[in-house]
Amino acid sequence: MSPRFEDAAQKLASANDLLAEIARVGADRARGGYSRHVFTSADAELREWFAGAARARGLQVHTDRNANLWAWFGAPGVDAVVTGSHLDSVPGGGAYDGPLGVVSALAAFDLLRAEGFAPRRPLAIVVFAEEEGGRFGVPCLGSRLLTGTLEPERALTLRDGDGTTFADAARAGGHDPGHFGRDTETLGQIGTFVELHVEQGRGLIHLDAPLAVGSNIIPHGRWRFTFTGQGNHAGTTLMDDRRDPMMPAAEMIGAVRRSAAAVPEARATVGRLVPTPGGTNVIASQVDVWLDARLPEPGSVRDLVTEIAEKARAAAELEGCTVDVREESYEGTAVFDPALRDRLTAMLGGAPVLPTGAGHDAAVLAPFVPTAMLYVRNPTGISHAPQEFAEPGDIDHGTVELARVLRSLAG
Ligand code: GLV
Ligand code: MN
Ligand code: MN
Repeated sequence: MSPRFEDAAQKLASANDLLAEIARVGADRARGGYSRHVFTSADAELREWFAGAARARGLQVHTDRNANLWAWFGAPGVDAVVTGSHLDSVPGGGAYDGPLGVVSALAAFDLLRAEGFAPRRPLAIVVFAEEEGGRFGVPCLGSRLLTGTLEPERALTLRDGDGTTFADAARAGGHDPGHFGRDTETLGQIGTFVELHVEQGRGLIHLDAPLAVGSNIIPHGRWRFTFTGQGNHAGTTLMDDRRDPMMPAAEMIGAVRRSAAAVPEARATVGRLVPTPGGTNVIASQVDVWLDARLPEPGSVRDLVTEIAEKARAAAELEGCTVDVREESYEGTAVFDPALRDRLTAMLGGAPVLPTGAGHDAAVLAPFVPTAMLYVRNPTGISHAPQEFAEPGDIDHGTVELARVLRSLAG
């Protein structure tokens, strides 16, 4: 028999209250916002907080083979209705991208419990590890490893900015990297996945609506351009004698903007550039530039990157440098389950349906299980920055609607 939510004695905490509980964790004084990277002390603190909040609600908490955290109402089982998101952030990110889906899930469970809801399907919250790729470069590591869409051999050797491997960081965080990889048992338990997320654009501002249902995520990926030249002295090397990789890197950044601007709906960004060795009076020997590119079909994001890479090669040659281009991650179009999308839209009184250019673990899960997303209005339209926001009233509304969705799917 299914356990009942009211069996776990717990006061009602709103999603806003829960957000306030973690407001100081991982606050980045230097950059502003939050830097909550996987397997750091902030991540450990957030995991501990989540486990505590879940246990206080009578949920059964465990960590799966790929460092994703789970909180089950009653015994884990198959055909489960799963909701949740992630707690890690980009460097200097906002308070809502990820955590909103986690706190809303906990608060929605509280609402269901308070009304004495008895789920007929197992219900769980999942917190995916390293959704942003903020530390190891490749996003959605937890969900990709779980689904087997990323080989553990590749994940384990990814390095952070300090050279620490994902394997070593995981070990330091108390996880056994030998267990990482496709987890058919856990994946087989997910019957439906619904992720609530702050909207990361202006769609709901324009529609003047508090909540939307997701339709699809456009193809996107990350590429690393490594420009190599000759490191040298800034004061003694005449301009004609230089092979400075910063020059083709600068050309490439301009090419990114120009090439993407010429393709309707394309988005391409250079948000990270690392010169080696990185001294004011040193001509760099190497410059690594990361490109994030996204483009809806029928456009081809890979063709756009090929065009940028050709321009980068020409610029490198002109300076006597070389460039190596590597695709670090790619995610094709994710289409959320149309029947589930329509069911949620109807359930939410004809909520608008929005596509997005933002990536999510839900996109990784979508080819495997019926998956849906809910977006909560963001009045600034800004995300991946401290100005990301959601009104408390919209958060409460999103929580109530998430509870409605879970009630319907699991009831
Ligand atoms: C994650 O939010 C991404 O879209 O990169
Ligand atoms: Mn994000
Ligand atoms: Mn997110």
